[in-house]
Amino acid sequence: MDNVLIIGCGDIGRRIARRLPDRRIVGLVRSEESAQRLRAAGIEPLQRDLDSADFALPELAPRTTLFHLAPPPPRGRSDPRTERLLAALAQCSCPPLCVVYLSTSGVYGDCGGAWVDETWPARPRADRAWRRWNAERQLLTWSATSGVPVVRLRVGGIYAPDRLPVARLRSGRLRVLCPEGAPWSNRIHAEDLARVCIAAAERGRSGALYNASDGHPTSMTDYFYRVADHLGLPRPPCVPADSAESELSPEMLSFLRESRRLDNRRKRDELGVTPEFPDLDSGLRARVESE
Ligand SMILES: NC(=O)c1ccc[n+]([C@@H]2O[C@H](COP(=O)([O-])OP(=O)(O)OC[C@H]3O[C@@H](n4cnc5c(N)ncnc54)[C@H](OP(=O)(O)O)[C@@H]3O)[C@@H](O)[C@H]2O)c1
Repeated sequence: MDNVLIIGCGDIGRRIARRLPDRRIVGLVRSEESAQRLRAAGIEPLQRDLDSADFALPELAPRTTLFHLAPPPPRGRSDPRTERLLAALAQCSCPPLCVVYLSTSGVYGDCGGAWVDETWPARPRADRAWRRWNAERQLLTWSATSGVPVVRLRVGGIYAPDRLPVARLRSGRLRVLCPEGAPWSNRIHAEDLARVCIAAAERGRSGALYNASDGHPTSMTDYFYRVADHLGLPRPPCVPADSAESELSPEMLSFLRESRRLDNRRKRDELGVTPEFPDLDSGLRARVESE
């Protein structure tokens, strides 16, 4: 990859860019604030809004690898942002070398706590998962007609030293499900995810899907408890399963209706990425050490 275009160049995009110091990196963001942040990080900003009806891209440089990291809009079951991106790419005379799309493991839906590899069927449940599934399918269809390889990553919850839920824990308003009833959930350290994204561009098979997680699922309750312990904050109060509906936020409830453990062996075997932070403790310890 000689040139890199990162669509939705936020936290993960900047981490990818830091790992590719010798490439020309262009980052597409919406706001001026984010564009300034990119400039400060040595990334060339491209300020565009994927929600705009006249969204267009400048001509791509030859041999451009494209990372599509922009989230779908907050409502609906489809992803018009990906649709606009693909329409804009169709106008470029020089197609990208490949596209890496960052999706979510929510596309699998509820798997009853099973270990889930990439052969599991997509059974999205929440609308946000339907939007991701829609984006994935759009990309696969576009890949079949354009001939540009697309690699999809299904990602668990992303965490890192500088993106922990400190404000939510400090607010005193956070409630979690009591540990005994808490479903399985998955995580990946943001730096490991950046490595997976780059490996997917370099070694991912066209059309392939890779689960991206650290391989050590726990529960969301366990996550909040461990983060609170590491930060020296009180653990959030827990709510038993039978009163969850009335006491937990709708967003929290929608995550808790799904349980799965991501099998990440394909990522390891085909992309050659083993996590630098294989579990929450190692990722959180890194925070303490960096402080
Ligand atoms: N949080 C998780 O645990 C999790 C799990 C799985 C997948 N993901 C997904 O992983 C991806 C990367 O995550 P991240 O942490 O790097 O996200 P992030 O820091 O929030 O960055 C998202 C970027 O997308 C840009 N963007 C959003 N809407 C846009 C629009 N309409 N037009 C143009 N640009 C737009 C934002 O630009 P502005 O800043 O200018 O708005 C920002 O640069 C996201 O799609 C996220 O949803 C997250």
